[in-house]
Order: sequence, then C-alpha cells, then structure tokens
Amino acid sequence: MDKKALLELNNGLKIELPILSGTIGPNVLNIKDLYRTTGLFTYDPGFVSTASCSSSITFIDGDEGVLKYRGHDIADLAENNNFTAIIYLLLYGALPNLEQHKKFLLKIGELSKVSEQVINVIKAFPKTAHPMSILIACFASLSAFYHERYGNTVNSENLDCGISAIAQVPAIVAMIYRHIKNQEFINAQNELSYSENFLRMMFGDAFNNDKSSLFVKALDKIFILHADHEQNASTAAIRLVGSAGSNLFASLSAGIATLWGPAHGGANEAVINMLREIEQSGDIGKFIEKAKDDKDPFKLMGFGHRIYKNYDPRARILKGACNEVLDKLEQDNKLLKIAKGLEEVALKDEYFVMRKLYPNVDFYSGIIMNAIDIPSNMFTPIFALARTTGWVTQWYEMMNDKEAKICRPRQLYVGE
Ligand code: SDX
Repeated sequence: MDKKALLELNNGLKIELPILSGTIGPNVLNIKDLYRTTGLFTYDPGFVSTASCSSSITFIDGDEGVLKYRGHDIADLAENNNFTAIIYLLLYGALPNLEQHKKFLLKIGELSKVSEQVINVIKAFPKTAHPMSILIACFASLSAFYHERYGNTVNSENLDCGISAIAQVPAIVAMIYRHIKNQEFINAQNELSYSENFLRMMFGDAFNNDKSSLFVKALDKIFILHADHEQNASTAAIRLVGSAGSNLFASLSAGIATLWGPAHGGANEAVINMLREIEQSGDIGKFIEKAKDDKDPFKLMGFGHRIYKNYDPRARILKGACNEVLDKLEQDNKLLKIAKGLEEVALKDEYFVMRKLYPNVDFYSGIIMNAIDIPSNMFTPIFALARTTGWVTQWYEMMNDKEAKICRPRQLYVGE
C-alpha cells in the first residue's frame, strides 16, 4: 500500500504527500507538488533534512557508521582491492574481473595524456599559489577541449570524457606539486599502478626506496576511502552545475572549488596545522576548550560530520593505516600521539559526546600523507584526485536521470 503523510494547515487545507522508499535507508517525503498545492516552500538551510536526488552509487548509514560503494562495504573494499578496481566499481556498478580490469587500465593509460595548454596553465601560476587554485584552473581549461569537441551537448553516453578526467588528474596534481617546488615535470609510466605512477610523477627518483611499496599501498587505500561519499557539498555542486547543462569539466572545476573549503575537503590540511599548533603549545585542553566555546569560531578540525553521528568508518580504517605505516617507519610520530590524545579527551567530553562528534575522514589522513613527505597544501588536491571518480560517476548518473531538472531552490524573503 502506498505510504502517505497527511499535512493539515491551520486554514483547514489538508493534503496528502507521498512517502517514497529506497532500497535501504530513510524514506523520503515527496514534496515536489507542495508549492503548487499549498503555496508553501519548505525551509532547510544547509539541506540538513533534504534529499536532492535518488542515487544507486553510495550508501551511508550515519548512525551505524556504515559506508558502501555499490552495495560493497568500504572496509572490505579497502582491504581487498586496489583503487582502479574501485574506480571501475563506481563507474560500472560491479567489481571488474581480471580481463575487464586489464582492459580498463589500458583505457586509463590511453586517456591520461595532459595537453600542452593545460601544462601552460599550471606554469602560468606563481609558485606561491595554493595548489587547489591551480587545480580549479586546470579543470576549467579542460572544459575548452570538451566544448571544442562536443559544444554544449551533454555527452552522457560516452564515459571516455569522464575516464579522461580520472586518467589525467594524477599527472595534473603531480605537475602542480612540482611546479610550486620549481622542479621539472616527470612523465607518466602507465605500466605502473595508478597510485605508484602518481607517487613517481610527484617525487621522481626520490621515491626509489625500500618504503615505496608501503607508501603506494597506504596512498591507494586513501584514494579508495575518498572516492565517493553520497551527496556531500562538492558532489552536490557538481550535480547543480551539471543540471544547467554545463559540461563535465566545468562541473568538476566547481566541485574542486567547493572541496577546498576547510569545512569540507580543506579540513585535512587544517587538521595537520591544528596538530602542529597543539604540539607547539603542548596544551590539548586549551584547544578542546576553544572548540567548545561558542564565542570562539575555532572548531576541532577533522571532528564532526553532517551524517556520521558515530565513528566515520573511513577514520577507523585510516587510524589503523596510520599505526601500520608509522610502525613500519619506526617513526615515533608526535602528531599521531597528539591526534590520539585529542580523540581520547574529546570522546570523553560531554560537549562532544552530546553532539555525537567523532573523528571524520580528515582526522588521520594527513598524518599518513605527512609520513610520506607529502606537504599539507597537497592534501586537499589529493582528496580531489580521488574524489574525481565519485564526481564523474555522480555527474553521469544525474545526466542519465529522467527525473533530473535544473536545480533552482527558492527562498524565504526577509528584505524590504
Ligand atoms: C568532509 O559531507 C560529507 O560527506 C563530507 C566528507 C566527504 O567525504 O565528502 O565526509 C568530507 O568534509 C568531512 C568533514 C571535514 N570538516 C571538518 O572536519 C571541519 C570541522 N567539522 C565541522 O565544521 C562540522 O562538524 C561539519 C562542517 C563537518 C558538520 O557541520 P554540521 O553538520 O553543519 O554540524 P553543526 O555545525 O550544526 O554542528 C552541530 C553542533 C554545533 O554546536 P551547537 O550549535 O549545537 O552548540 O556541533 C558543533 C557545532 O558548533 N560542532 C563542533 C564541531 N563540529 C560541530 N564543535 C567543535 N568542533 C567541531 N569540529
């Protein structure tokens, strides 16, 4: 029997609103006819209670701390696959067999060449530029090629455009790193795995050491954990820009711009800066008190989440990976000690417990990248590198969604 909700207004008007169910997770109240039938808008700044679309890509249960890509639990995926198998899973809906994986790797190699024009965009930036500003510009310039080839037609059948974004982003991020370090660019070696190829393009021969396979495995896991995350702010931006018919690369540059914010993907860089500040001051309690003071804008970076009201499963996996990498490096990592100390104090403190604030994906990821000698201003570009797969997948899903319309929210007018 169709589920319905009854809305009774104080003017006596009564309307029924259909309740829709998905495969799993919360049902939704279908309000698309609300304004037409009642003259009322709903009001939900920040979309705390708003589902913007239906999707079959990623499922999150925030209360249970569950994350699944195409129905597969994130812990199994991170343990038993490499990143290119996860790219395939997200794009095509199933993990690849050996043959499919091999063919897919060839496709990525084929589409990975970065054009001279994009390289010139990178070189045009001052060495002091934040890498995320350069990455936004690179994707905006890639939209020129798309437009030249396809015009404004939305090419939602041919995945090659999306795969070319996924294939080029490691080289682009590595070149941005070497540009600001004033170093020569290093060519891709497509016979290597996606993650090893990236680390070699970033570090070159400096990467030839007995720890390289440890670092490749750790970074591959970081890529898997950051690949997609339902309708987060940057994915919502991609969908909104794409809903107007803007091409994929223009939409991706909007997603990168959104991810940069410290409330979102920029948090991983902010976490390391916060841990270094705490190391300087030696006083964890002071920072906990600042975070609790609602007159102080300081937030505990890497803590809290719009959906997870339990431990972010990605943070749990990354905390384990931190221990593994640092044990192998026999590094007595002060930042990890501070992070664990901060977590311990916060998880016993009423302020955090009451608000269900736990470590999120950004809390431990930077400690691993720091151990791999990746500078903190490259953490968010690396997050963007991994999330390009999720953004591309979500963009195609929206472009093929018969229900999709241009996203155009309304407002509560409080002006003159
Ligand atoms: C990512 O959405 C995604 O899926 C994102 C992401 C992905 O994979 O795409 O998971 C990646 O962006 C992770 C989040 C990274 N950001 C940070 O770590 C920044 C610090 N966290 C906060 O800014 C905050 O927790 C947010 C932005 C993550 C969530 O904010 P919400 O959902 O709007 O929650 P809120 O601000 O309404 O917080 C509820 C309460 C408030 O206190 P009260 O008004 O009830 O007194 O909790 C407090 C907040 O002040 N609070 C914090 C806090 N986070 C929330 N207080 C101190 N420190 C914090 N970190």
